[in-house]
Amino acid sequence: MYDAKEEIKSRLAIEDVVGRYVELKHAGRTLKGRSPWGVDKTPSFMVSPEKGIWHDFSAGKGGDVFTFIMEIEGISFKEALEKLAHEAGVELKKYSTEGDKKFAEKKTRAKKALELATKYYQACLIKNRPVCEYVFYKRNLNRETVKEFKIGYSPASGTALLDALKKRGFKEADLDAAGLLNRFKKDLFKDRMMIPFIDTNGEIIGYTARILKKGEPKYLNTPETILFNKSRFIFGLYNAKEAIRRSGFVVIVEGNMDVISSYQAGVKEAVATSGTAMTTQHLKILSRLTSDIRLAYDGDEAGVRATERAVELAGDLGIDLTIISNYHGAKDPDELIQKDPALWQEAVNERVPAVDWLLSRYAEKLDLSLAPDKKKFSDIALKLLSYIKDEIEHATYEEKIAQKLGVSVETLRKKGSRLSQELENNTKKHFLKKPKTALIPDHVKKLEDNLLALKIYSGVSDLDIPLEIPTDQTKLSELELIFNANYKSIKDLDVKKEAKLILKRYEKELGRAKIKALQEKLAELSEDDPAYEETLLKLNHLLKNN
Ligand code: UTP
Ligand code: MN
Repeated sequence: MYDAKEEIKSRLAIEDVVGRYVELKHAGRTLKGRSPWGVDKTPSFMVSPEKGIWHDFSAGKGGDVFTFIMEIEGISFKEALEKLAHEAGVELKKYSTEGDKKFAEKKTRAKKALELATKYYQACLIKNRPVCEYVFYKRNLNRETVKEFKIGYSPASGTALLDALKKRGFKEADLDAAGLLNRFKKDLFKDRMMIPFIDTNGEIIGYTARILKKGEPKYLNTPETILFNKSRFIFGLYNAKEAIRRSGFVVIVEGNMDVISSYQAGVKEAVATSGTAMTTQHLKILSRLTSDIRLAYDGDEAGVRATERAVELAGDLGIDLTIISNYHGAKDPDELIQKDPALWQEAVNERVPAVDWLLSRYAEKLDLSLAPDKKKFSDIALKLLSYIKDEIEHATYEEKIAQKLGVSVETLRKKGSRLSQELENNTKKHFLKKPKTALIPDHVKKLEDNLLALKIYSGVSDLDIPLEIPTDQTKLSELELIFNANYKSIKDLDVKKEAKLILKRYEKELGRAKIKALQEKLAELSEDDPAYEETLLKLNHLLKNN
């Protein structure tokens, strides 16, 4: 069988691909350079053109051209394959099915629509005086920044974009697939500052759109589409990658505007998870680029909770997080930068380990001379401790916490094991109780019941309802009740119409529910998990058919 991977390898010289990221010099049969990840004093990065491999002695990793691109770009194997295939001029589509091809074409058209939409929005921005005022004066962005992030403006008319793109040969379906239309098939984004979501290949996959005045929602984001998956997307990563690699750290901020401001202020290492909480996928992608991950969340209640969650996820991946928290009274990095960019530049270098930061935040809020507050503190501290996998780190924090509480480490441990025992018992109970149908939401269940009621009790024999009739007597009585309440006096002809209508809605809603469940599952799975690929395939299949 033809192997696309081997074909790509034979067409691309590894030293050319790697050479774009690392300055390489010949040293005999190999090439040498500085580690793109490490802080090596002498060149510790090697490439062997003969063998087609690389090795980084300071970072302790290596492999072929694919693993190099995966590591340095922070992308999956599939993405690396696509990227390098493109470069090598190897067509991957040949090796896929008709369905895959159609899906790929749909994606390409959606991408093209977004590319053109972005140009259109950019042109609209320049032409609109009040919007320019907002962007350049109120938000203080300069021309280079606006250009770098491809910021634009969506007109208020309601069909401006749709009309413009139709003139250029795009169909409603292309715009719909790109997430550009609302449910009335008109422009989704109206009278907003448009900030594109740019993926790690530099391609636009959606937008976050800010309202210019006061109003709701402040930010409107592209919904999940065949291109945009919010649990994996990292805002600003495309623009930040270079800087992250060079300086060896990344700063995660809460807002997209914080990312943009930070970039303009010279801290180009900032990224954000867009309109969603951090997921394992986000952290994994970033941890492939650097192990120095700094959080700069707002200091409010929500920020503390988000930090806690991040520490939990990071613990599972063996990553240490630090916190940037000195905003000099500003509410977020953007506000601090508006005050003085130098203060933000300083702030990103004053950081504390996340666990220490959380512990002192809790300690501040409680009175640790009181027994009930000590109990509360130990509850939260023990939860944090359970996230820390490294033995030494764990022991060090254990001591710190015990000291703060004025109890012995043994006492703390005793409570720790009691809590984990209780947790285990609860989890077991929870699993036993959990009904199997939990995945199907109530409103879908309701449609299903109506369909069954019609099928069994309407007396119309040739209804096309592909649902199995339940055998459970209680359920049957329930369905009869539903029929009598909703359809008792309905005519046979109308039964057919009604059944058809509900069935259509039911199938659509069921598809949606399944997609949502799969997306959630995917966000929790690691890419190396055997179930990952399978889930992704199932998801793509569903997206194709919905
Ligand atoms: P914030 O409300 O903190 O906004 O939301 P911000 O970044 O400070 O924005 P400005 O400075 O007022 O323009 C932080 C992030 O939460 C998401 C967005 O990703 C935003 O960047 N968000 C917020 C939404 O998705 N929708 C909203 O309506 C609000
Ligand atoms: Mn802000």
